[in-house]
Amino acid sequence: MAIEKSSSTPVDHRRKILITGAGGLLGRHATRWFADRYDVIAARHEDVDITDARTVGQWITEHRPDLIINCAAFSNVDACEREPARAFAVNAEGAYNLALAAHRVGAELVHFSTDYVFDGRKRTPYTIEDDPRPINVYGQSKLEGEKFVRGALSRHYIVRIARLFGRGGRNFASALLDLARRQGRLLAIVDEIGSPTYVMDLIERLDEIIRWGPYGTYHVTNEGACSWYEFALTALRLAGLRGVVIEKVNSADLNRPARRPHYTALRCLVSERLGWTPLRPWSEAFAAFIHERDEQTG
Ligand SMILES: NC(=O)c1ccc[n+]([C@@H]2O[C@H](COP(=O)([O-])OP(=O)(O)OC[C@H]3O[C@@H](n4cnc5c(N)ncnc54)[C@H](OP(=O)(O)O)[C@@H]3O)[C@@H](O)[C@H]2O)c1
Repeated sequence: MAIEKSSSTPVDHRRKILITGAGGLLGRHATRWFADRYDVIAARHEDVDITDARTVGQWITEHRPDLIINCAAFSNVDACEREPARAFAVNAEGAYNLALAAHRVGAELVHFSTDYVFDGRKRTPYTIEDDPRPINVYGQSKLEGEKFVRGALSRHYIVRIARLFGRGGRNFASALLDLARRQGRLLAIVDEIGSPTYVMDLIERLDEIIRWGPYGTYHVTNEGACSWYEFALTALRLAGLRGVVIEKVNSADLNRPARRPHYTALRCLVSERLGWTPLRPWSEAFAAFIHERDEQTG
């Protein structure tokens, strides 16, 4: 795919980065950010299917990157429940294919995982020392992917993230605002607590991780946690949308194929040990997102 590079930022040609899943929410933003700073080759799903071990091997051997950032995933939680074979093929075996190919050429790998590897029974933020116990297929397949990456490649960064929002594409924050504008009415869940995360804040932290961080597992989210209901209240206020009716619901009322954990706030021990500043609170990040959206549209 073609990548635009900003002329003002010097590109570090010494570090070659391949990005998979470049058409997704994280993939698009990561491609733009890293292409401004490094030598980047980005592949969308239609360019490189990570479940195809041979293609992955050839692509990585041909480009011999220093680092691979895997943004590819089967990320629809309910669809994973209906199609477990596909979930494991993409989220677990796909990750393994990349880790193995990375190992062969001596590359590092960034692999994203999820707060949904936890069962949600805790009431204080999960750290990397807590045992994962996923309660749905998506979480199980992502945990399997983590294990494959750890087993195949020591030079890995596994980055668990949660509730991503950002400009463009499918994401819960844009969907919520669109629905509120169109219908003036929302259903919002009160008993699923997690940490919303602005994709731009995540990517800045990721850039720090790949430059200075030790290999291993990270938790990266904006500070604070909220229910979807609390998120909706704040989001509508910050977006200046008044008069929208928000109906509270419980997770169990929704009859969705996949169960969701009730509490998945994350805490990053590695960043704390390194003395890194926590990412700003999610509501501040959401205000920045609204501002960015308004600047683009207005
Ligand atoms: N979004 C969140 O709230 C969230 C929360 C926790 C963790 N994560 C993790 O963060 C990462 C990025 O998520 P995201 O929100 O950017 O997901 P996304 O928007 O769904 O993007 C995933 C991308 O991967 C592509 N893909 C699917 N199967 C593929 C395959 N076999 N080979 C190559 N590409 C494939 C998809 O293409 P198609 O659309 O063509 O299928 C899509 O472009 C994932 O690892 C996800 O599990 C996300």
